[in-house]
Amino acid sequence: MRPNVHIAFHIYDFLVLFGPVISWWCFPFERVIGFLQKINTNDHIGGQLEATLSKSFARGAILRRWLRRPDCPPVIRELRRLFERTFPAYNPPASSPPREVDGECAHYKHLGVNFSRANVHMGNSLVYYYPPNSRVAVAGSIERIVSVSGEITLEIRRQAPLEVGQYDPFLPFYPYFPAQTHSSKMLDTTDTVSISDVLSHYARYKFSKGRCVVLNLARS
Ligand SMILES: *[C@@H]1O[C@H](CO)[C@@H](O)[C@H](O)[C@H]1NC(C)=O
Repeated sequence: MRPNVHIAFHIYDFLVLFGPVISWWCFPFERVIGFLQKINTNDHIGGQLEATLSKSFARGAILRRWLRRPDCPPVIRELRRLFERTFPAYNPPASSPPREVDGECAHYKHLGVNFSRANVHMGNSLVYYYPPNSRVAVAGSIERIVSVSGEITLEIRRQAPLEVGQYDPFLPFYPYFPAQTHSSKMLDTTDTVSISDVLSHYARYKFSKGRCVVLNLARS
């Protein structure tokens, strides 16, 4: 039996001991591994590789620490400016530039997150947002992204709520596990909101009896 399969038998115990998986899963560590694997090692192995990985990682961490210090030497700041101009791809803008011509866009990046309309990329169209005159976020799917005088507005079709008498098995765990059950149908009407009223993406999984579970993917 592989360790992963063995550990799967203990998930119940881990849930009881440590709480929702989101607080102890390994994705942050996987991200560091991915980062380490991208370090250029010139295909050296056996000691040299490990030394290169740990030295590069430590050098990067020390450099970032210097850049955040108020007494960072001006020469390092200047080198950063040159580096960012030389390798702009490593610092892509967090938001798409404002559109010069009014009209529809297929996708739009806002504060580092890429939003698309549903017929371009369904996953990127699923968002939690504040509908007009409300501060209670609802789930919906972006149908149109429209730019008028550089302002971006979205037309979003809301996910229908559960029908009366339908059960939400995730309710007892909310908000520790930010999943909610909705109807898998969409409402007939759309909301028109500003891009600043959009809070996060969500993942949607259709399960039984016309229901779907909606998991908030907010990063904070
Ligand atoms: C945003 O998503 C769309 C649709 O998947 C893709 O074509 C586009 O390249 C993405 N844009 C950015 C900036 O990642």
